[in-house]
Amino acid sequence: MTDAPAAAADPAASLTVRDNRTGSEYEVPIVDGTIRAADLGKIRTSDEEPGLAVYDPGFVNTASCRSAVTFIDGDKGILEYRGYPIEQLAEKSNFLEVAYLLIHGELPTKEQYDAWVHEITYHTFVHENVKSFMHGFRYDAHPMGMLMASVGALSTFYPDARNIDDPANRHMQIVRMIAKMPTLGAWSFRHAQGKPFVYPDNELSYTENFLSMLFKMSEQKFDADPRLAKALDVLLILHADHEQNCSTNAVRSVGSSQVDPYSAVAAGVAALYGPLHGGANEAVLRMLRRIGSKENIPAFIEGVKAGNEKLMGFGHRVYKNFDPRATIIKKACDDVFEVTGVNPLLEIAQELEKIALEDEYFIKRKLYPNVDFYSGLIYEALQFPPEMFTVLFAIGRTPGWLAQWNELIQDKEQKIARPKQIYTGDRQLTFVPAEERWA
Ligand code: ACO
Repeated sequence: MTDAPAAAADPAASLTVRDNRTGSEYEVPIVDGTIRAADLGKIRTSDEEPGLAVYDPGFVNTASCRSAVTFIDGDKGILEYRGYPIEQLAEKSNFLEVAYLLIHGELPTKEQYDAWVHEITYHTFVHENVKSFMHGFRYDAHPMGMLMASVGALSTFYPDARNIDDPANRHMQIVRMIAKMPTLGAWSFRHAQGKPFVYPDNELSYTENFLSMLFKMSEQKFDADPRLAKALDVLLILHADHEQNCSTNAVRSVGSSQVDPYSAVAAGVAALYGPLHGGANEAVLRMLRRIGSKENIPAFIEGVKAGNEKLMGFGHRVYKNFDPRATIIKKACDDVFEVTGVNPLLEIAQELEKIALEDEYFIKRKLYPNVDFYSGLIYEALQFPPEMFTVLFAIGRTPGWLAQWNELIQDKEQKIARPKQIYTGDRQLTFVPAEERWA
């Protein structure tokens, strides 16, 4: 285990701030490489005026919490869950063990693991009324919209979930949600296809059961290819958490009102639904299709460099060297294509990556393939339509959302999320009634 950043250990670390409006000086402590926004609030021109605040749209340089769940070093391409490198987890663990790790903070003993898998497996069924209302969606409902609504609806089936201060109750809801997300996700998919819903099969592993609920037709038992089940399991691990991203922030923000976790996770699903968050892999597929053949790549790259469009699946807000998840996904691609046959778009993707990685434009801007560059190709090979890609992401991210929610609930320092604003509108206008204004 390595030590926390050096700044945390240095008690002398502080910032001296001189307010040129008043000439006053302030000592602001630096802890863990941050200053407290509340300390800046003490800087004011008079007792009547509000204190100094920070303006940070998109929270690009604001820490909203202390968290021990996930560590990322974007420059070095490091991603760790509870201190364990993603590469080791993807290669040697499985999704449910990783979920346990994220939720509980440490790896399970054999007894803990068996009990956890048993609990998750036996909570995969949903109330029959969930089935009825899912049938009520329009024939072409987007599965992400169905997932968002049905997760939120679970709060009405488990009203005890609002008892968030009871650890045993929290555990129950966490188990239920990790267990039921694949059921809801698979049923959203089947609804759009006009196919009957498939009930969970408790004899199957988590990922095999999900594949069964997605693809089973008249056969007695769905027999997933273990290599495909493994590849999907790896993809779920890679998406399981990613510190304070948009959807996790949504879960924390909504959860800070002390609402039940189903409602908080529904907010996470909603955030993930947006194209800037969960939808890039679909855009990669569209781009590869449009390029069409390797010969067209140079012209496409020139268009990107001229600023006409982006090379989708490249670049990342945090990773500025490489995205460790992309490296693992490339290997999963090989395993999947061994079973399904090669997706013809793969050749284009590989050539595109090769050309871009050697090009000065991309080198200078530190643009590398991200997790989405290859994931869409795998999902397509697994027979998922593009609308399902984000649903898969949501199922994978559920343990991360819940680990972060659980951490939030127990963090005594957290308050209801309520940012400040800089007001830019009018003040103190005199209201004129409609009959006078329109006369
Ligand atoms: N193709 C071409 N140029 C790019 C790309 C790209 N994919 N990404 C960034 N750039 C360029 C920008 O135009 C900018 O160039 P400039 O300095 O000449 O103006 C420079 O690189 C820096 O880019 P920013 O937009 O400032 O980087 P930011 O960190 O804000 O954006 C983002 C990160 C949104 C991921 C961006 O790289 C992008 O849009 N990539 C394509 C979409 C994508 O793949 N998204 C998936 C992200 S992973 C995930 O969410 C699970």
